[in-house]
Amino acid sequence: MEDVLRQWGGEYALTAYDEPSGAYMFIAVHSTRLGPGAGGTRMKTYATPGDGLLDACRLAEAMTLKMAVAGLPMGGAKSVLAVPGELDPEVRRNLLLRHGRNVHALGGAYRTGPDMNTNSADMDTLNEVTPYAFGRSVANGGSGSSAPDTAVGVFHGIVASVAHAFGSADLTGRRVLVQGAGAVGGPLAEMLVKAGAHVIVSDVSLERVEALYDTLGVEVVAPASEFDTECDVYAPCATGGVLDATTIPRLRCRIVAGAANNPLSQRSDGELLRAAGILYAPDFVINAGGGIHLIGYEALGWTTEQVEAHLIGIGTTLTEIYRAADAEGISTEEAAERVAHARLAVGPSPS
Ligand SMILES: NC(=O)c1ccc[n+]([C@@H]2O[C@H](COP(=O)([O-])OP(=O)(O)OC[C@H]3O[C@@H](n4cnc5c(N)ncnc54)[C@H](O)[C@@H]3O)[C@@H](O)[C@H]2O)c1
Repeated sequence: MEDVLRQWGGEYALTAYDEPSGAYMFIAVHSTRLGPGAGGTRMKTYATPGDGLLDACRLAEAMTLKMAVAGLPMGGAKSVLAVPGELDPEVRRNLLLRHGRNVHALGGAYRTGPDMNTNSADMDTLNEVTPYAFGRSVANGGSGSSAPDTAVGVFHGIVASVAHAFGSADLTGRRVLVQGAGAVGGPLAEMLVKAGAHVIVSDVSLERVEALYDTLGVEVVAPASEFDTECDVYAPCATGGVLDATTIPRLRCRIVAGAANNPLSQRSDGELLRAAGILYAPDFVINAGGGIHLIGYEALGWTTEQVEAHLIGIGTTLTEIYRAADAEGISTEEAAERVAHARLAVGPSPS
């Protein structure tokens, strides 16, 4: 944990241990330069508490970049509730209430939302003790699930990536492999099929791929073969850390563009993709749709048209990043980070 904090460079991390659940609780606030730190609450089991803190810190840093590139008046932060395993519902609820009180103690410097293993109902629970929870249920004044708009943003990102790589934005007949047929991957597969793409889906859940096979007629591949499948676009929409020195040489695609947070095991993997001639859409640029949805509707009072315009903007931003990367001979990851750091250097825009 000392190493994580020394190497991180964020503003602060709030840590606690919850005796009844056995959970370690982390709120990592990486940057409030552009506005309050925003980022979801992840509930997950880790090998060690230090791994939980590391995840919170890495994800918080990615949120800083995501907010800056998306032009949202927010900073970067993330919470991790590192649970020992499945929790009894009452113990889980009390853990969430304690987390909500910790969020509230930060006085609005941190705003949270749903993430892995937390949902709108959990945000309703947090809302019992703090107003600083995005993504509450519609019945409780929230804007509902952000996943469909994350999918819309990824779709625009794929169109922009295809246009850059192939010289035409037409998806007709393009082979797109969607890894993970979940809350984002499902609606993404549907939009791609409607746009004429040949969609290939993989998921560890047979039930989920079967549902998409039945409704959309997608091709299905086993998770073990997803990296070796010939396609134009590989869209990671499952978990992070899927691309590394072992999996990148196996890829048979021209583009990597999907929703998963931190799909690269390490930063240098962006260079490996570039060397392999694969166009990479940086995660914190292409998956900003969920943040645009939650912050746009719930913090900025945007209309549906304004949210949609910002989702389309993800494609435009990616095109600019691809052109800058080509011109400078750098990875798209580095080009995107430069955009974020330039905005952070300027600071918040006057409103
Ligand atoms: N939901 C959002 O708004 C949002 C926003 C930004 C980023 N993301 C990221 O996008 C990704 C997907 O999010 P989601 O909300 O759809 O999650 P989800 O849990 O609904 O779906 C993930 C799917 O991936 C499958 N999966 C897990 N491991 C797999 C593997 N090795 N191979 C194939 N399939 C596998 C799961 O069975 C599940 O169906 C996550 O990495 C998430 O962090 C989501």
